[in-house]
Amino acid sequence: MKKVDRFKSYMKNSEQLFSCPICAASMVVDDNHIVCKQNHSFDIAKKGYINMMTQPVHTKYDKDLFEARYQFIQHGVYKPLHDKISELIGQRQSVIDLGCGEGSHLAKITELVNHDMIRAGLDIAKEGVMTASKYHLDAIWCVGDLAQVPFKDSSFDVVLNILSPANYGEFKRLLSDDGFVIKVFPNSGYLKELREAFYNNEEYSNEETKKRFKESLCDIQEERLTYQAPISAELVPFLLKMTPLTWNLNERVDLELKEVTVDVDILVGRGG
Ligand SMILES: C[S@@+](CC[C@H](N)C(=O)[O-])C[C@H]1O[C@@H](n2cnc3c(N)ncnc32)[C@H](O)[C@@H]1O
Ligand SMILES: [Zn+2]
Repeated sequence: MKKVDRFKSYMKNSEQLFSCPICAASMVVDDNHIVCKQNHSFDIAKKGYINMMTQPVHTKYDKDLFEARYQFIQHGVYKPLHDKISELIGQRQSVIDLGCGEGSHLAKITELVNHDMIRAGLDIAKEGVMTASKYHLDAIWCVGDLAQVPFKDSSFDVVLNILSPANYGEFKRLLSDDGFVIKVFPNSGYLKELREAFYNNEEYSNEETKKRFKESLCDIQEERLTYQAPISAELVPFLLKMTPLTWNLNERVDLELKEVTVDVDILVGRGG
């Protein structure tokens, strides 16, 4: 089956989850579109994703960044994080990753979950969603704004939000009765090798952003995950390209690295 047909069939099976981003009505998938009762219609792209932005947005994240991020994540650097999140998801039946980037985290985590579940990934950067649809099958890949998500109330058991901005009102709206949010925050050691190489390694604190999570959700669980992951020399150029940390460097940079530090806080909270 062609990739676009496989995507359309995945969309058709999940069409009951969508709500129109313009009028909030239910939507159905027809030939090449998803359309609401008031005829607001969004094209299904041939590459196997859907763009549901009501206005185009230009972001700083480009195709090369997402491609680099994809290559980097394939090499297992985030495996302990994926293991942890898949354990937290357990037997849940549906997950949406808001700010999914190029989709590898969602794909790898749901592979580890090891049972069929509805998966959706949404990002405001079209290039991210296009890269996701290029590499990962059987998910709703959607260009959209996480502050105005085109899915119905209570439609997901798990909202994932990894190293991305949050909108807790919207996250809570999307959660099913027993659902929860899993958010990953960078901590002070996250990719510290890059900050040590290019900056003065100023102290970074995520306390303020975690505070907003804790004020917005309930039954909070928190866990810090810190480890060093070995990386081979071929991965260094991808690492340099995949993060805004190196955007302001004008000259070409060479860096010898044998490992990188992953240092994150994983917070889980319910809507209440
Ligand atoms: C640092 S990246 C993290 C991407 C991915 N979760 C990862 O860990 O590889 C932040 C992502 O948030 C996305 N983003 C920023 N604002 C957004 C919004 N309002 N709605 C959806 N995505 C957004 C960006 O396009 C970008 O892909
Ligand atoms: Zn509509």
